[in-house]
Amino acid sequence: MPEFDLAIRGGTLVTAADTVRADLGIRDGRIAGIAERITDAARTIDASGLLVLPGGIDSHVHIAQDSGPGIVMADDFASATRAAAAGGNTCVMPFALQPRGASLREATHAYRALAEGQCHIDVAIHLIVSDPTPAVLGQELPALIAEGYTSFKVFMTYDDLVLNDRQILDVFDVARREGARVMVHAEGYDAIRYMTEKLERAGQTTPYGHALSRPQLVEREAAHRAIAHAELVDLPIVIVHVSGEQAMEQIAWAKARGLKIHAETCPQYLTLTAEDLKGHGSDDPMAGAKYVCSPPPRDTASQAAIWRGIETGVFEIVSSDHCPFRYDDSAGKLNPRAKTSFRYVPNGIPGIETRLPILFSEGVSAGRISLNRFVAITATNHARLYALYPRKGSIGVGFDADLALWDPNRRETIRQANLHHGADYTPWEGFAVTGWPVMTLARGEVVAEDGRVVGALGHGRVLDRTAQGAPSS
Ligand code: URP
Ligand code: ZN
Ligand code: ZN
Repeated sequence: MPEFDLAIRGGTLVTAADTVRADLGIRDGRIAGIAERITDAARTIDASGLLVLPGGIDSHVHIAQDSGPGIVMADDFASATRAAAAGGNTCVMPFALQPRGASLREATHAYRALAEGQCHIDVAIHLIVSDPTPAVLGQELPALIAEGYTSFKVFMTYDDLVLNDRQILDVFDVARREGARVMVHAEGYDAIRYMTEKLERAGQTTPYGHALSRPQLVEREAAHRAIAHAELVDLPIVIVHVSGEQAMEQIAWAKARGLKIHAETCPQYLTLTAEDLKGHGSDDPMAGAKYVCSPPPRDTASQAAIWRGIETGVFEIVSSDHCPFRYDDSAGKLNPRAKTSFRYVPNGIPGIETRLPILFSEGVSAGRISLNRFVAITATNHARLYALYPRKGSIGVGFDADLALWDPNRRETIRQANLHHGADYTPWEGFAVTGWPVMTLARGEVVAEDGRVVGALGHGRVLDRTAQGAPSS
């Protein structure tokens, strides 16, 4: 009997720390050998000329999430994980959302049931706490953290999700005690409401109004407030989907003071601007809705600043914040109320399949970041922050054989027609990239190859994690 089930031969292995020419041996879905030459395997994949990277971990995606009356998210677990696999990912992290007035525990278990047996790649579920009642803070949240849901998100905006400052402090306190990781959506609710009403009164109701209603200072103020609350409770937090230079400066300031603040940004804040919400001169007044997400994309100065933040370590992770709605759909971006005001355009854009190619091309191929930094911000740091390490996020003996075989020279143009998500558009239509994932392996099985998803639905598992104890970093 051969020593390995599979050998990946002739490739260049890349981790967050090293780049080496070596073969990989895989047994029972895990990496079982790394050597200059591995021959004793039942099957061989020739990776000559390719990079062998840890599969992408996208730790911020929205899948089949309740999005309010009449609005339907465009992806279920099958389509989202299919698209993720085609884009070089091997693990994604969506959110079980607690509707106000409902049990967090029941919402989480119902959400998990949607995922079981419906995934092409592994998923690990975060929570969204929208109603921190005494029962949630005292019983449900601690019990769920102990069950393996060790991270959750809180919102400083959105009518149905916003927590006030006292509630934020209370959930931070539970996270500190129980050893959970908290993600913060930092945008100030009242400032956005004030701006929205003022813009509507002035007749500015088209999608571009969304960008005007959430200027950078709205994000800057909330980021600073979240940092202060985290300092008070002595809790490390992750400020997610940072879009603007001003919020980034707050995070850099906090880090320089030794505060334990982590930060995430997304490809949209590196490649799109608020101008996109004007719709590129289209006759369709709603065309800009395809780019409506929160926070909104900013300007080229912010893009340059966010790149500097990636290069210098202000940002540890780049996620997609995949939040797909169909455009031409009365349950999506073109729902009837959206035509009356930007405030009713569902917030979010699809990006689960395009995150890695865009970041590789604009980052590595354009000479802004090293291959190792690319691996750190797309896989390793996600696994470390969210308690998936050392099972996932790197290449080493004992890790799951979650891999993306990458052709660094392949040129492609992003086209909706070639994508696998449930949305009917991509914000990056026509975007040219250099570097492409040609094969994705999840726990040693080939799940995607050359743009085709070949893995079986149900191969992906819902992962449980272990609470980390009071997080110290
Ligand atoms: O516009 C966005 N980002 N929608 C998704 C929900 C969130 O705030 O992450
Ligand atoms: Zn958010
Ligand atoms: Zn999000």
